[in-house]
Amino acid sequence: MSVLIEGGRVITGTDDYVADVYIEDETITAIGDRLDMSADRVIDARGKYVLPGCIDPHTHFDMPFGGTITADDFQSGQTSCAFGGTTCHIDFANQVRGRSFTEGIETWHAKANGKAMIDYGFHIIVIDLEEGGSLEELATLPDMGVTSYKLLMAYKNVLMVDDETLFKVFQLAKQTGALAMIHGENGDAIDILVKQAVADGNLEPRWHAKTRPPQLEGEATNRAIQLAHVAGCPLYVVHVTCKEAVDPIARARALGWPVWGETCTQYFFIDETYLDKENFEGAKAVFSPPVRDRSNQPVLWDAVRTDQLSAISTDHCSFRMSDQKTLGKDNFALIPNGAPGVEDRLLMIHHFGVNEGRITLNRMVDLLSTNAAKLFGLYPRKGTIAPGSDADIVIFDPEKEHTISAKTHHSAADYNLYEGTTVVGAPEIVMLRGTVLVSNDELVAEPGVGRFVKRARFGKQLQPAARR
Ligand code: URP
Ligand code: ZN
Repeated sequence: MSVLIEGGRVITGTDDYVADVYIEDETITAIGDRLDMSADRVIDARGKYVLPGCIDPHTHFDMPFGGTITADDFQSGQTSCAFGGTTCHIDFANQVRGRSFTEGIETWHAKANGKAMIDYGFHIIVIDLEEGGSLEELATLPDMGVTSYKLLMAYKNVLMVDDETLFKVFQLAKQTGALAMIHGENGDAIDILVKQAVADGNLEPRWHAKTRPPQLEGEATNRAIQLAHVAGCPLYVVHVTCKEAVDPIARARALGWPVWGETCTQYFFIDETYLDKENFEGAKAVFSPPVRDRSNQPVLWDAVRTDQLSAISTDHCSFRMSDQKTLGKDNFALIPNGAPGVEDRLLMIHHFGVNEGRITLNRMVDLLSTNAAKLFGLYPRKGTIAPGSDADIVIFDPEKEHTISAKTHHSAADYNLYEGTTVVGAPEIVMLRGTVLVSNDELVAEPGVGRFVKRARFGKQLQPAARR
């Protein structure tokens, strides 16, 4: 099967030019001006952008958490991804306390099996090195294509690890060529603040943010950066929300340390006042780290523009308001943490980032696709438009208006954080390895089209901007 995409504006992290793109089976095989090649299918992309499929390095599908299981499984979550122009994601496979890492990965393979609508990889979440998995076993995961270890410094007694575990895994990451990732919040201090708030009868959603102040994100982020530096491993900080955490990342990068950070769509648009909404509506924005004071939003835009932060993910972790968020109706500490977002990332970042002049189109591609591909061992197979790359392509209409709503989104969540927001610019055709997944708002592919991608070990494709 061959496809010729004619006359679109090809945008990568570095280039912006009008060309034809030729696809044979799953791969881009030629790019050029008015290619004289016959094809089984010709797509007219004049006036449209031809973007590499977006990559979301931070999702949680079919995950048990907060006393329930996320609303989206792999099928609904990845369908939602496809409509949003995301053709590959990396989900977090949890180790279960007392069980092996391999079992965690196998469990996640089973969840995706037969349901996949896009390509996917896994990070492993390390919970314990004592009762279940060992360092020796963790060392074998990169051979399975799982080349990143995530550690959470928050969620005490659930997912949190101590500094000893953190440091041992950092040392291992240096040896195995895995990328270490951290959720940076000080879980011990948060645990005390939460208990005090509950004891004082402060139970509304707003207390979620009040008990997780930005200084505790800054402290944990800086601690992890210093520990990673001593261990000599590269570090990726997930969901950065505030100046207190951007600053230590920027400082490390200015020193040439191999440290990267991501933020997530929601932190640009939702601030802590959302938690005050009446009738428990604030619970929609209960996730961790929490929404912050609005003054952090321009800090985050500056950080993604200047490469202090290098990626924008979603941390898609969806729960229904109707019967899941309500677990915490009488106590904010019991509200399952997380929100949906995979379908909205490209729409929101294109409209408010590119259309409103905060970032360039090239930078948008870097932040939503290329940098994740480089950091997580997918590049140049994914994350760019080039001969030899997978034909994961979004044909994006920069003029198309779209109003975001839970009534029309494809996530199983019953609300959308950006409900009623109208954006200009939306995907028209989304392709995975040459197969059309979505065309003009219709799903045209079947579950099973997506595949697990074995990722390469951490390479040297992205380096901090400055060295001293
Ligand atoms: O609230 C969130 N973010 N839930 C998912 C787990 C995590 O912290 O990433
Ligand atoms: Zn997460």
